[in-house]
Amino acid sequence: MAEKTSQQVYPLAPANGAPRSDEEALTEKEAKRKKRVKLALYIGAFAVFQVIVILVFVMVVMRVHRPKFRVGELRIQSLNTGSQNSTSFDMSFVAPIRVKNANFGPYKYDATTVVFTYGGVQVGQAAVPKSKANFKSTKKIDLTVTVSSSNLTSVAAASSALESELRSGNLTLRSQATMTGKVELMLIFKKKKSTFMDCTMVINASTQAVQSLACK
Ligand SMILES: *[C@@H]1O[C@H](CO)[C@@H](O)[C@H](O)[C@H]1NC(C)=O
Ligand SMILES: *[C@@H]1O[C@H](CO)[C@@H](O)[C@H](O)[C@H]1NC(C)=O
Ligand SMILES: *[C@@H]1O[C@H](CO)[C@@H](O)[C@H](O)[C@H]1NC(C)=O
Ligand SMILES: *[C@@H]1O[C@H](CO)[C@@H](O)[C@H](O)[C@H]1NC(C)=O
Repeated sequence: MAEKTSQQVYPLAPANGAPRSDEEALTEKEAKRKKRVKLALYIGAFAVFQVIVILVFVMVVMRVHRPKFRVGELRIQSLNTGSQNSTSFDMSFVAPIRVKNANFGPYKYDATTVVFTYGGVQVGQAAVPKSKANFKSTKKIDLTVTVSSSNLTSVAAASSALESELRSGNLTLRSQATMTGKVELMLIFKKKKSTFMDCTMVINASTQAVQSLACK
């Protein structure tokens, strides 16, 4: 029994002793290798993550959107369409001008003239002063405008169109403008961006209210 035990213990001790250090060294090497692989994987994953973050940043934050330049529903203060036979109008109204900026930075725009036309003929204008629309917001500018048909008398087609339109009770105006400016991103990047207004509004001459408004 005792012999068996010693025999059992004996071969175990050296068999476990000498190769153990080899095995340990091996497993240590293996562990180190695994650690390095793990580290490389982490670094790789982090690099991929960084690239994704940068791509999202470039595509979302650094992307320059064209601001929207519109006029809202006019608030008509006075409208005089003349006598039954005369084809004329005089109107004053408040034009709610809107510059909608969807960028992650301000849109600094230059002074802009909004031209109101009837049948292609200028009947009035409004000046939008130089200013800016902030980060993801809409700049609102209310301008008082007067328009008159005085320029139409020299254009036969426009004045005959006005005559028939006023007889039906409508008055169609168009507002157009080109706004130039710069979108500023991250306080340092500046990108030139122009935006355009092209709105058509139908005014009901008897109720003196805007019947329809459409902007391109
Ligand atoms: C309008 O014009 C017609 C003829 O073209 C004339 O008979 C009528 O008296 C005019 N009405 C007014 C209000 O001027
Ligand atoms: C008439 O047209 C001229 C030039 O197109 C413009 O300068 C002027 O402001 C216009 N008048 C009105 C009342 O809009
Ligand atoms: C007046 O304008 C409205 C809105 O655009 C339109 O639906 C209607 O047909 C016009 N009326 C006439 C008589 O042109
Ligand atoms: C103007 O508005 C009145 C009241 O809503 C309506 O009865 C009339 O038909 C309108 N005129 C036109 C030209 O659409």
